[in-house]
Formats: sequence, C-alpha cells, structure tokens
Amino acid sequence: MELSGGTTPKLCGSFLKRLCWGVDSASATYAPHTTVGALKLVLRVFVPLCGKAKDMYLLYKMGFTVTGVEFASQPIAEFFAENSITTQNTPKTKTDKQYTASKDGKIQIGQGDLFRYTTDNLPFPEYDIIWDRGSFEAINNEDRPRYVDLLSRLLTKQGFYFMHSTDYDLSEYRGPPLAANTDVIKKYFADMSVEFLDRESMLDEHWRAVGLTWMDALTHVMKWKTK
Ligand SMILES: C[S@@+](CC[C@H](N)C(=O)[O-])C[C@H]1O[C@@H](n2cnc3c(N)ncnc32)[C@H](O)[C@@H]1O
Repeated sequence: MELSGGTTPKLCGSFLKRLCWGVDSASATYAPHTTVGALKLVLRVFVPLCGKAKDMYLLYKMGFTVTGVEFASQPIAEFFAENSITTQNTPKTKTDKQYTASKDGKIQIGQGDLFRYTTDNLPFPEYDIIWDRGSFEAINNEDRPRYVDLLSRLLTKQGFYFMHSTDYDLSEYRGPPLAANTDVIKKYFADMSVEFLDRESMLDEHWRAVGLTWMDALTHVMKWKTK
C-alpha cells in the first residue's frame, strides 16, 4: 500500500462488488446502486483526507458517486490532471463551500479542513460508503474522537466503512502514520462491528531504515451494530 496517490486494487475490485448491494451478479457489467422503493440510487462514497488517491478514480470509473475532502490544493489539481478529468467548479453552498468537480458532477473534491465539513455543506447529507485509506492513521490521537464522530454522522444505516491502516511494533517506531490495528479500531469505532479482512506486509527499505522489523497494511470493514 503506497501512502499517497496509490491504490488498493483488491478492494476496488471483486471484493467491493461482492459487498455492495444492488449488484446484478448475472450481468457482466456492474452498476453500484441501492434500491429504495421504485428508486435506484447510485451509491455515494466519501473519501476523507483524500490526497490524490487513485482509489477515487477507480471508484468513479466503477460508477460510484464520489466526494473527497483534502486540505492541500496541489493533490486535488494533480488528481484531476493525472486522471485526465476535465473539471468545473460547483456553485457555492450556503456556507460558502465550493467543490472541484468532473463535468458529469460524479466526482467532487472539496479543499479545506475536514473538520469544517458537515452534513449541511457536503454534496450529500449521508454516504453509503466511507473509504478511509490512510486517513484515520493520519489523525492525531486527540482528534480521533471528533474524526470518528464526524464520519459516523455521514454513514448511512446500512453503509460500509472501509479502513486501510498500518500496523507495526510501537517499541520500534511511533509514527507517522499512527499505527491502527484491530484493537485500536474497535476502541474508536465501538458502535460498529469491525471485520478484519486482510494483512499484507509493506516493509520496504524506507521503513527498515526507520528501524522497523515488520510493518503491515491492514484492511477492515465496519458496519453499524445499530443506528
Ligand atoms: C497520508 S495522506 C492520505 C492520502 C490519501 N488518503 C491516499 O490514500 O493517498 C493524508 C492527506 O490528508 C491531508 N490532510 C491532513 N489533515 C487534513 C485535514 N484536517 N483536512 C483535510 N485534509 C487533511 C493531507 O494534506 C494529506 O494529503
């Protein structure tokens, strides 16, 4: 797992298709949607601290409606340029928020501090999927409760919260990124069931030089126990 601008193809591929409801398994094509009465709604994905994660592009290409929030302007500009997506600016919201969006409006990225975004000034009041790739682990311990609170408000009752994090021996290194293993995630996301999915070594020369003897990329998926 790269820490910035990378992708998690395993999750963006067959696994995600299996988990998302509304998939026609008999069909070769995939249209991520949920059905509410007679309405077919495209699934909405929220990507906090998105950087220029390639995952956003893959999710967009798969047909999801994607919203990202990122503090820095450069990765936002690079994301659209590197993926050859022509942009437009959305009209300002009542609270003065504006998004850089694709022409079809299906991917929008807001620039600013995540903690200044709320259900009122995001493109949607709720999201079906939270795609947390290296984001929770980028948040300081003291800010983690309000981070969890904010994202919990955004996740629908039936939604999935994907988390990609790192794990290593804290006696060897103290971050960044801040380690987040299953126990840490369960502690912060106490109202959700936490399912461990995958562990994969990401130890390379860089992390060896930092002093680590092992470092793993973890993936978990969470759902509300009740909401
Ligand atoms: C470790 S990178 C993760 C990038 C991305 N999720 C990925 O997978 O490539 C963390 C990113 O979060 C952004 N960031 C950190 N704190 C933020 C905040 N409070 N609000 C918005 N973005 C923030 C940084 O600018 C940086 O691009």
